[in-house]
Amino acid sequence: TARCAKALQLTLAVIKPDAVAHPLVLEALHEKILENNFIIVKAKETVWRRQDSERFYAEHKGRFFYQRLVEFMSSGPMWAYILAREEAVSHWRAMMGPTKVFRARYDAPGSIRARFGLTDTRNTTHGSDSEDSAWREIAFFFPEFSVAEWMERAEPAFR
Ligand code: PPS
Repeated sequence: TARCAKALQLTLAVIKPDAVAHPLVLEALHEKILENNFIIVKAKETVWRRQDSERFYAEHKGRFFYQRLVEFMSSGPMWAYILAREEAVSHWRAMMGPTKVFRARYDAPGSIRARFGLTDTRNTTHGSDSEDSAWREIAFFFPEFSVAEWMERAEPAFR
């Protein structure tokens, strides 16, 4: 039987150090991923060195929040996931809610950032903002993983 009528899309999702520091929050987010019918293609706990953080956020260098963002993201363990679903990129972004926590609380009260976000820096999650970024970010976190190969070999198995 078909589990998924439309093609699966991959996205890169991260649970940031603020959430990983709280076991119940981490568990709640794992639950949310599963409840939303994502296939967890790969998952790992990882800790960034400062230079990993700087490389990942290079496009934001010079913005007022760059230093605190880079520092925070290399401050402790996080969880990275390759998630598959129909419309995975936009669905995970919608689940996260807006970047700014006060905005999330007003505009998207049930979202992850509204419920668990602490500040605009400690905002609990990251998600790729397009399919192109997803491919790039998957390569960043999981250099051994081939999106093209997965699409060709594994994706049909989930249909
Ligand atoms: S933009 O303007 O669309 O490029 O910005 P945005 O995608 O919202 O944010 C890019 C990343 O920077 C983080 N960010 C911040 N960190 C700390 N303080 C403030 N004020 C702030 N504003 C944005 C934001 O969380 C994004 O990182 P990720 O990892 O994608 O969440």
